[in-house]
Amino acid sequence: MPAWSFPATALSALHAGFRPHLLDVEPDSWALEPSGVPDDVALRARAAVPVAPFGAEPDLEGWATWSAETGVPAVFDAAACFDSLGRAPMPDGPPFAVVVSMHATKVFGIGEGAFVLSNDRSWVLRIRRFINFGFTAARRSDVFGTNAKLSEYGAAVGLAGLDAWPETRRRWMAVAGDFTTRLAAAGLRAQPGFGGPAAVPYCVADFETPERRQCALEALSRAGIETRQWWGGGQHANPALATLSRDDLAVTDTLAARTLGLPFWIDIATRDVDEIFSVLATSVG
Ligand SMILES: Cc1ncc(COP(=O)(O)O)c(C=O)c1O
Repeated sequence: MPAWSFPATALSALHAGFRPHLLDVEPDSWALEPSGVPDDVALRARAAVPVAPFGAEPDLEGWATWSAETGVPAVFDAAACFDSLGRAPMPDGPPFAVVVSMHATKVFGIGEGAFVLSNDRSWVLRIRRFINFGFTAARRSDVFGTNAKLSEYGAAVGLAGLDAWPETRRRWMAVAGDFTTRLAAAGLRAQPGFGGPAAVPYCVADFETPERRQCALEALSRAGIETRQWWGGGQHANPALATLSRDDLAVTDTLAARTLGLPFWIDIATRDVDEIFSVLATSVG
């Protein structure tokens, strides 16, 4: 799995009894790509966990091909990919799963909760059993399981959210379009995939150097504007994950040092956006 991700990626693998190995990402996509998995790592791996960073479209096709070649299944952390997944057809071939978050910080937020997609019916059935006490057709724990079902309340919010989705999506895209124009005017870019074609819930600006990022962070903070380093220094920078085995993580470390999540949400007021970009214009312009 990539080091450039939220710690939930490694934590969930650890909970499932695996020992994560962290790999570096590509500078253009900010993602671990199949070509970035060294042969010796692929040989030892029991699963790959690619991450689609900040809602970018996951490379389902590329990883399906990699799985077919290596015999290693892929489980995608596509936490922020509710919209971009609609553009990525499910490839046939080796079974894989895609996990999508519906936490409040996502474009399709219902509070808490997630769903799993798979191209394989038997995987879907196994996951259904696992999240429902290991029940099979009989109301009996035939296999190991837990209670990880979506709450009734969350499901109701989700159903209402689906009715509103076309308009919600339009509004996310409008804010992202405005940010894209303003970022370009400030000589900045956001993460790959920001501004279209899919709606994403984050605007992670790339300041190109740690010094420029620090200037922006301090200027925004002085103006009372919060920012987020969504993935901190990468998964390996979390004390609980510091001992995980890893390859060289130079790109991850660079991204962690020079990117910053700007305030970005669906109904952010124009005057707030004006203020953010006027601070940025003076600090990095
Ligand atoms: C890449 C990634 N994986 C997992 C998660 C955790 O998702 P959840 O909050 O639904 O547990 C996040 C949260 O933002 C994330 O960015």
